[in-house]
Amino acid sequence: MRKPLVAGNWKMHGSKSMVTSLLKSLLAGSSPQDAVDLVVFPPFPYLYRAQKLLRDSSITWGAQTLNPAAQGAHTGEVSASMLLDLGCRYVLVGHSERRRLYGESDSDVAARFETAVQAGLEPLLCVGETLEQRERGETNSVITAQIDAVLARCGIDSLASATIAYEPVWAIGTGKTATPDQAQEVHALIRDKLLARDDMIGSQIRILYGGSVSSSNAADLFAREDIDGGLVGGASLKAEDFLAIRDAAA
Ligand code: PGA
Repeated sequence: MRKPLVAGNWKMHGSKSMVTSLLKSLLAGSSPQDAVDLVVFPPFPYLYRAQKLLRDSSITWGAQTLNPAAQGAHTGEVSASMLLDLGCRYVLVGHSERRRLYGESDSDVAARFETAVQAGLEPLLCVGETLEQRERGETNSVITAQIDAVLARCGIDSLASATIAYEPVWAIGTGKTATPDQAQEVHALIRDKLLARDDMIGSQIRILYGGSVSSSNAADLFAREDIDGGLVGGASLKAEDFLAIRDAAA
């Protein structure tokens, strides 16, 4: 049995007061008995606040990216050891906005994934096709290439501590969600691919859906066999909505 996971990707949103009130509301609505793992991904400057407020709770936190280097002359970048110092358990790698706006290739993503695993962070690997790729019938080959880049560099065992998020690029921030059937089809493709490499890892890995998840569509998506929760952007900025999505995964 895979325990569902619901993660909030805050992207570049927030302020000290907003972060404090959002985290306090999430704390008030959570308990260690919850049947769903709840994770937040605040922007770097607010990770310290997350650590302070969440450290004794069942809510965990992570960062939105990391640099593959251990330290050095990388102005503006943040390393795995810094994230561990701030109590992060997870780190997003390969979010489509990183790939598209900041030029991260499949091999850059694999390098970040490797660094995260070696440091003891749990990577949440994002994969997904654009609308043009879907319309050209390339969805499966795009997803396969994104996952193969990680497998080739890091090996199947590196996925033992990982989570995957399938996020069709055309569904992110657009209000257009993949239908449960469309999402399940890709999730099953990913799981089958991993099962063929390693039975245990393929059956245990959590595969989240992301892209305009809301409190009204979450239950239908999460009801599908291979959808183990969600990576939520916009709707994770309101405690009430985010907790309703969490409840839909229970
Ligand atoms: P969205 O973002 O829920 O706002 O579509 C999801 C994501 O980018 O992870």
